[in-house]
Amino acid sequence: MNTYKIAVIGGDGTGPEVIREGIKVLKVLEQKTGFRCEYHEYDFGGERYLRTGEILPDSAVDELRRHDAIYLGAIGHPDVKPGILEKGILLRLRFELDQYINLRPVKLYPGVWTPIKDKGPEDIDFVVIRENSGDVYTGAGGNIKKGTPHEVAVQEMIYTRFEVDRCLKYAFEYTRKRNKRKTLTLCGKTNVLTYVFDLWERAFHEMGQKDYPDIKREYAHVDATTMWMVKNPEWFDVLVTGNMFGDIITDLGAMVQGGMGVAAGGNINPEGVSMFEPIGGSAPKYTGQNVINPIACIAAGQMMLEHLGETQAAAMLDRALAEFLGSGILPGLSVSDIKKAGMSTSKIGDAIAERIQAMAG
Ligand code: IPM
Ligand code: MN
Repeated sequence: MNTYKIAVIGGDGTGPEVIREGIKVLKVLEQKTGFRCEYHEYDFGGERYLRTGEILPDSAVDELRRHDAIYLGAIGHPDVKPGILEKGILLRLRFELDQYINLRPVKLYPGVWTPIKDKGPEDIDFVVIRENSGDVYTGAGGNIKKGTPHEVAVQEMIYTRFEVDRCLKYAFEYTRKRNKRKTLTLCGKTNVLTYVFDLWERAFHEMGQKDYPDIKREYAHVDATTMWMVKNPEWFDVLVTGNMFGDIITDLGAMVQGGMGVAAGGNINPEGVSMFEPIGGSAPKYTGQNVINPIACIAAGQMMLEHLGETQAAAMLDRALAEFLGSGILPGLSVSDIKKAGMSTSKIGDAIAERIQAMAG
């Protein structure tokens, strides 16, 4: 039987509550389809930082490296200055574990409301592959004459051919494996960023021509991409882009698919340890109330199963999510919708777990 070591970081706010539901569902799938997970919990986050001053000990990164995957709830604490935990935990893990892909499916499940009029699940089903290590996130830059009227601030967009190539390779392979419209769209800004996106564009066509003749190549500027994601989301199959543009368009993607209540992402190192997370925040004001929506975290668990190669379990969970959301039990995904329906964080987890339990194995 396949056994996986899963590092669990519940994190801040409602993170631990939604992770609990995710694990509840995973445990049912373990029984159902025959694999095993050992869960190792880590208490990194705002509380630990405020208590001990420690964000992420070096030894922790090495420990995490010895797992098959990391399941993360949420990072962000109201009493900690913004940026400290995000940089010290989330970005540090992405960098040190070299999770150079940020994988963000934008899929509208049946029964989920989208702000886009006259579009349904058949129109909204694409994947954004965001490069997750370079770009302005590299951290090169600085300031001069800070605090004076002549202050200079520089933050540079940096890409190496190596970073671009490894991201494109993942994107082409992913598009082929997904096997839907076999179309990969490069999202860039070649009309202004004539160095960085010139590199991306050349690398894109060279690799596509040479190794992926079966994949159709398209290009869109990032500003136009945001327009089309709203106007004609059905045009997209797989999008690949740099780190900063990817950060922006994946929040738009999350809204298009129904909001932070369903949006999940993976920070992938195809050769190493990957980390899966709901992309919404830690919702501190709802902490401990059992009212936050765990769907996005459960969907992150689904991505983790897919990544580990537990395809049957992943497919069952995808079906359970579609059935639950399509059933109309929840009038929407917000806290007030959950309360209105007489549901709760744990009841939603139970409902999905029960659906899986009832499926033919
Ligand atoms: C995301 C987030 C992070 C990012 C922040 C919290 C550092 O917005 O995962 O998209 O910018 O990558
Ligand atoms: Mn973001």
